[in-house]
Amino acid sequence: VKVDHPTPTKVEVDLGDRSYEVLIGYGVRAELADYIPPSAQRVAIVTQENIPWEVDPGRPIGVFHIGPGEQYKTMETIEGLCTAFADWGLTRADCVVGVGGGMVTDVAGFAASVYHRGLPVVHVATSLLGQIDASIGGKTGVNLTVGKNLVGTYWQPHAVLCDLDTLSTLPARELRCGFGELAKYRWVGERSFEDLSLQQRVSECVRIKAQVVAEDEREAGRRALLNYGHTLAHAIETSTDHAVAHGEAVAIGLVFAADLAHSMGRISSEAAAAHRALISGYDLAVRPPGGLDPDRLIDLMAGDKKATTGLTFVLLNDQGHLEVVAGVDRAVVRAELARFLEPA
Ligand SMILES: NC(=O)c1ccc[n+]([C@@H]2O[C@H](COP(=O)([O-])OP(=O)(O)OC[C@H]3O[C@@H](n4cnc5c(N)ncnc54)[C@H](O)[C@@H]3O)[C@@H](O)[C@H]2O)c1
Ligand SMILES: [Zn+2]
Repeated sequence: VKVDHPTPTKVEVDLGDRSYEVLIGYGVRAELADYIPPSAQRVAIVTQENIPWEVDPGRPIGVFHIGPGEQYKTMETIEGLCTAFADWGLTRADCVVGVGGGMVTDVAGFAASVYHRGLPVVHVATSLLGQIDASIGGKTGVNLTVGKNLVGTYWQPHAVLCDLDTLSTLPARELRCGFGELAKYRWVGERSFEDLSLQQRVSECVRIKAQVVAEDEREAGRRALLNYGHTLAHAIETSTDHAVAHGEAVAIGLVFAADLAHSMGRISSEAAAAHRALISGYDLAVRPPGGLDPDRLIDLMAGDKKATTGLTFVLLNDQGHLEVVAGVDRAVVRAELARFLEPA
């Protein structure tokens, strides 16, 4: 990775007395000690064995490994982690540091929020998806067998470090997934950033997310727009048994949401084509693999709601703004989806 910006970028997440800084740049993990609460005596580092990045918070550390995949994002992992914290003697006056992708920061954040009723957590985000999305905004959580992220808390971190050096070891597919998620910010933030460097792009995404979170921490309104592309994405992930990864599914979901908006007369064909162009430019597929059943996808998108209520999508309007649109007619979605699933 080329060091194109030797000076790190700082973005503030403005949440009153819970405000914090996100530091983005090459090598910023070296700044970690300055971002730990000064009073913290010891630091519990939560990470995974396959993450080859060490950090020095400038205090005695304990390192706590969690399992390497989404299947370990469970209450059992939280219980194991909190038990290990207690055995080590971690107290409320100390600090937790999550070093990893979104799975690690979601778990570290959750454990930090409930252990001793809450202690500070600092994230060192090491995946692109983690840096532009998961580590920012304070949503934590784990999965239940009946669904993803069903148990969790809002627990804002004390600081977030996005070290772009760490992306050099990220598997290529994980990097592409990060770009699938990154693509949504083009429309959430209503600005294009194709010509920007990686540091500038990550910083722009963090700025957009920080602004949305500052306005709507608990997702009463605008924060829901961060789910652009996610209605179909979640259905594709489930119906392919996660063979299509989240970021890949979001990329496809963005293209579909644009096609749907076009078929509903909300946006021009040029605006829809811009979605395809952006996604292809990141070397991501613009349509799902063959063999998916449109009716199953529709059922998954509808959740357990009845056919009559219609479907909910985040869609562009003719002013180029995103909005949450509930009650989209199933038949309209069905027709568009049938066209979308046809082989090219
Ligand atoms: N809290 C939120 O607001 C929010 C938002 C979006 C996603 N998420 C969550 O984030 C998770 C997905 O995050 P993700 O895409 O980062 O996946 P992940 O954390 O599972 O990481 C993907 C893989 O890459 C590895 N990895 C991470 N960084 C690495 C590095 N620098 N070098 C080598 N390997 C590395 C991980 O060990 C893992 O095997 C999901 O659990 C999702 O629910 C949370
Ligand atoms: Zn997502």
